[in-house]
Amino acid sequence: MRILGFETTCDETSAAVVENGMKVISNVVSSSQDFHKKYGGVVPEVAAREQVRTIIPVVKEALLKARVSNPAREVDAIAVAYGPGLIGSLLVGVESAKTMAIVWNKPLVPVNHLVGHVYANWIQVTKPQYSKSPKFPLIALIVSGGHTDLVLMTDHGKYKWLGGTLDDAAGEAFDKVARVLGLGYPGGPEIERVAGAKYLVTGNQAPATKYHLPRPMIKDENFDFSFSGLKTAVVNLVHSLEIIDHRKKTEIASEFQNAVVDVLVEKTIRAAKKYRVTEILVGGGVAANSELKHRMSKVGLKNKFSVRFPSTDLSVDNGAMIAACAFYNFNPVKIESLQAQSGLYFS
Ligand code: KG4
Ligand code: ZN
Repeated sequence: MRILGFETTCDETSAAVVENGMKVISNVVSSSQDFHKKYGGVVPEVAAREQVRTIIPVVKEALLKARVSNPAREVDAIAVAYGPGLIGSLLVGVESAKTMAIVWNKPLVPVNHLVGHVYANWIQVTKPQYSKSPKFPLIALIVSGGHTDLVLMTDHGKYKWLGGTLDDAAGEAFDKVARVLGLGYPGGPEIERVAGAKYLVTGNQAPATKYHLPRPMIKDENFDFSFSGLKTAVVNLVHSLEIIDHRKKTEIASEFQNAVVDVLVEKTIRAAKKYRVTEILVGGGVAANSELKHRMSKVGLKNKFSVRFPSTDLSVDNGAMIAACAFYNFNPVKIESLQAQSGLYFS
């Protein structure tokens, strides 16, 4: 089954053709990030206008790359991320997907963007190191610019939300700290670059840094997170320093990254132990972080959990994960009734 997936929840416009939920035939992503760089964050109005400008060319390219010349015949269904996200951006993808589903007479499958991030891990089965699909029950950690959630999945479409951030999302904290340090947007890759891949030198654990930042809620028994205090601690630290040279930036970025990774790893492993799962799946933009990948995999292995991360292009927002999710959760809806839901969450 070939599914054409749409992803337009924020500042990426993406369309992808995926076969049987695991083989990516094409995955085209256009980002309006460059427009947002000077503001250090996404400007919703600008993102929505860019969605309108790019959606048709992106779909055309995705079909062309997949050598689909007659979608009405060669595509079996259409999937679209209908929330959560910025309403202006979401509307563009949802209304475009509805229109195409009507014109080509195809089933339309709505996908929760957050669940979509988890399904990026099913696509990996085409890679040799992940020759088998993930096995339930599993723990999913979703870490993106807007969300930080721990979810227990017992089957496709069956999830129990265990906890999430009480304030800033992990990616949001990366973006804000990057801004305080005078680094670019998006902040995650910038922090990672400045912090450097220290684990390569030291092996197991990142080295202690000169500065010490808090690990919020790390000892709490629940599965909630809080990153706003950590961000404020960085702001206060930066303001207390007279000069911030490159070395100090490196130390602060590294300590901040360690703090976030420490909390994410500790809570995820604790959830995996408590619910006796064998697999941990990580998804969302922050899943592209090498320090997080390295440490989650290392601690996971030590505790006999299989840990999966999508490749970087499938960690950040993309249409392929939406198409993959729709394949395993094939619940088409009445086309006219589908509405974008900016506040959609886990139900
Ligand atoms: O999933 P995503 O592409 O969009 C949302 O659904 O929000 O995630 C974007 C977030 C941004 O906050 C960005 O800074 C973060 O993911 N991110 C990273 C890395 N790459 C992207 N955070 C840490 N390390 C990275 N390498
Ligand atoms: Zn996302």
